[in-house]
Amino acid sequence: MNSEIEKLLENNKDWANEQTAHNPDYFKSLAKEQHPTYLWIGCSDSRVPPDEITKTHPGEMFVHRNIANLVVQTDMNLLSVLQFAVEVLKVQHVIVCGHYGCGGVKAAMGTHQLGLIDNWLRQIKDTQRYYWQQLQALPEEARFRRLVELSVVEQVYNLGKTNIIQNAWQASGLPFLHGWVYDLENGRLHPQTPMVSSNQDIDLICKFELGFVGK
Ligand code: CO
Repeated sequence: MNSEIEKLLENNKDWANEQTAHNPDYFKSLAKEQHPTYLWIGCSDSRVPPDEITKTHPGEMFVHRNIANLVVQTDMNLLSVLQFAVEVLKVQHVIVCGHYGCGGVKAAMGTHQLGLIDNWLRQIKDTQRYYWQQLQALPEEARFRRLVELSVVEQVYNLGKTNIIQNAWQASGLPFLHGWVYDLENGRLHPQTPMVSSNQDIDLICKFELGFVGK
């Protein structure tokens, strides 16, 4: 077998042994059921492993990842994860986490065609257009960082407007939504929104600043 793959299987054996050395019933109790407190919607980027950067353990976090951590209302995969997490697992928090240096956001800022992914990233171009007035004044690197932040806020908005979250808020006032950005250069998470758990909250954080569209 290929040595890179062998290494993963070896690591897995070590890891499983370490867990049972600390607690012989570790897997027995985890295998019974899950009660995660959080749903994490993050970027597929290999440098942003959600459980590692938050020091959470198996069973604590339900996870959905896609390129550039987008919440697209027609994405059946995301909607299924969201519905299950909110209505069945009853997570208390949904975190959308982007990151500075995101290749997806960078690609959306450019004009080169990359293939199928152009269509996926299209929504980030829309975000850029909504906030163009503030973005255009910034030098390129600062504009990139700001678009990463604004895109996360937009995804929190998209999340809050799904019927899944609307119905959950109506029924219980939960879950809280959060928009965070992870900094690859120092490992720190930076909240971009307050805790959001109502339409009033969401309208306060997400005000489109339509720039020069149509002029
Ligand atoms: Co990314």
